[in-house]
Amino acid sequence: MRKGKRVSHLINNIEVIDIISEGRSVLKKEDIVIFAENGVPGDFVDVEVFKKRSSYWEGRIICINKESAKRIKPFCEHFYQCGGCKWQFLKYEDQLFYKEKQVKDAFRKIGKIEAPDVIGIIGNKADKYYRNKLEFTFSNKGWLDKETFSTGIPFKEALGFHVRGMFNKIVDLKECYLQAEPSNSLRNAIKEYSLSKKYDFFDIEKQDGFLRNLLVRTTQTGETMLILSFFYEDISKINDLLNHVSTKFPELSSIVYFINDKKNDTLTGLNPVLFKGNPYITDTISGNKYRISPISFFQTNTLQAENLYNIVKSYLDGVGEEVVYDLYTGTGTIANHVANQVKKVVGIEYIEEAISDAKVNSEINNISNTVFYAGDMVKVLNDELIAKEGKPDVIITDPPRVGMHEDVVNKIIELLPKKVIYVSCNPATQARDVLLMKEFYNVDKIQPVDMFPHTHHVENVVLLNRK
Ligand SMILES: C[S@@+](CC[C@H](N)C(=O)[O-])C[C@H]1O[C@@H](n2cnc3c(N)ncnc32)[C@H](O)[C@@H]1O
Repeated sequence: MRKGKRVSHLINNIEVIDIISEGRSVLKKEDIVIFAENGVPGDFVDVEVFKKRSSYWEGRIICINKESAKRIKPFCEHFYQCGGCKWQFLKYEDQLFYKEKQVKDAFRKIGKIEAPDVIGIIGNKADKYYRNKLEFTFSNKGWLDKETFSTGIPFKEALGFHVRGMFNKIVDLKECYLQAEPSNSLRNAIKEYSLSKKYDFFDIEKQDGFLRNLLVRTTQTGETMLILSFFYEDISKINDLLNHVSTKFPELSSIVYFINDKKNDTLTGLNPVLFKGNPYITDTISGNKYRISPISFFQTNTLQAENLYNIVKSYLDGVGEEVVYDLYTGTGTIANHVANQVKKVVGIEYIEEAISDAKVNSEINNISNTVFYAGDMVKVLNDELIAKEGKPDVIITDPPRVGMHEDVVNKIIELLPKKVIYVSCNPATQARDVLLMKEFYNVDKIQPVDMFPHTHHVENVVLLNRK
C-alpha cells in the first residue's frame, strides 16, 4: 500500500461537503479531495494538510470559520477530550441520514449495486443512556488541557475513558450520558472512596498501581453487575472498597472482581471472584432470558438488539421446517431468538465460553432445537458438520467488523441455502462479501439500524434470496 507523502500546508476557508465511511468528512478544493475528522457538511474551515496521496489528501481541521446549520452544541462537557460519542456535534436526524448514506455508498461502490434500495434506518428511541455496559479505566495521570499542563500543575488521578487517539491518557468523567444510573453514581463513589484511602490508580506507562478497570453492566430488568479489576491482590484493600460499595449501593445484584497483572486490560481467561450476589445477571429479549456473566458478549444496546433480531426473524419467516445455521452466534442470542420458528438452529462461534452461555440460554428458555459448536468458522463449517446436522435452508451470519473469510463465503455459495440473512456492523466488508454472492442471490432487503447514537457506527441487515 502506498503511504503517501508527508507535508504540512494550510488551506484556508474551504467547505466540508460530505461525510463518508468511518465518519470521515470530505472537503474539496477545486478537483482535490481532502479527508479530515470532525467536519460537518456546510462548515467552512481552515485545514492543515499533512499527507498527500495520488487520489486524495489527508488533513486536520484547525479552525471553523463558519459553522454549518447542521452543527449543534455537544451536550456533554467531556465531548472535546473524550474518545466516545464523536458525533454529538450533529443533530440526531442528520446522524441517521449519514449512517444510512454510508450503507448506500458501500453497496453502490463496493457491492456494485447501481441504485441500492436501502430501507429507512431504524433510529434509537432515546439518544442517551442506551448502553447496558461501560468500561472505565483508572489512571494516575488524568488528562490536562494544554493551558493547565503549561502551568506545571501535577497530574491528578482519573477514572473514565481514553482521550481521543491516546492510549495512555484518561478523561476524568463527571457525568457520562451513555448508561443509566447507578452507572455515574457508582463510578464517582468508587473514585471518591479510593482517593480518600489513597489507593494507587494504575500507571499505564509503568504498568503499576492497584486499581485498574471498572465495568458496569445493567439490564432492562433492573439488575446491575459491578466488575472491578485490580493489578495485584490485596485482600484487605479489596474487601474494604467492596464492602463500602456494597453498603452504599445495596441495589447491586452482583459484585465480581479480577486480578489482572497482564499487559492489557482484557479479562478473558482470568478467574472471576464473586464478592456478592449472583455470578451473572439476566436480561430478557422478546420474552427469552439471557444469562450474562462478567465477560460474556451481549449486544450493548438491548432495545435496538431486540429490533435487530426481530428484523432477522421477519426475513427468516420460518414455517417450522427449516434447518438454520447461525454463523458467528456469540452467546446464541439470534439462534435462541429464532428457534421457535424453525426446525433446528445450528450455532457456530469461536469463543468456547460464549458457546457454553449459548447452551445455558437455550436451557433456561426450554429451547431444545438448538445445537452449538465452538471453533474457527473456516474449520467448523465443513462437510462433516453438514452431514451430521443437515444442509441449511437458511444461513444467518453476523461476523465481526472484518467480515467473513473468503472460504466461508465460498462455503455458503457451495451450500446455496434458500436465504442468507447477513447482519453486520461494517457495511463495507458486508458489501464486499455480498458482491461475491451476487451471482447466486438477489439482494432483496437492506435495512440499517442505529445501535450507537453519536458515533458513526451503523448496523445493517441484508436479505439475500437464492436466484
Ligand atoms: C458481531 S459478534 C456476533 C454477535 C451475535 N450474533 C449476537 O448478536 O450476540 C461476532 C462474533 O463472531 C465471533 N468470531 C470472530 N471470528 C470468528 C471466527 N473466525 N470463527 C468463529 N467465530 C468468530 C466473535 O467471537 C463474536 O462473538
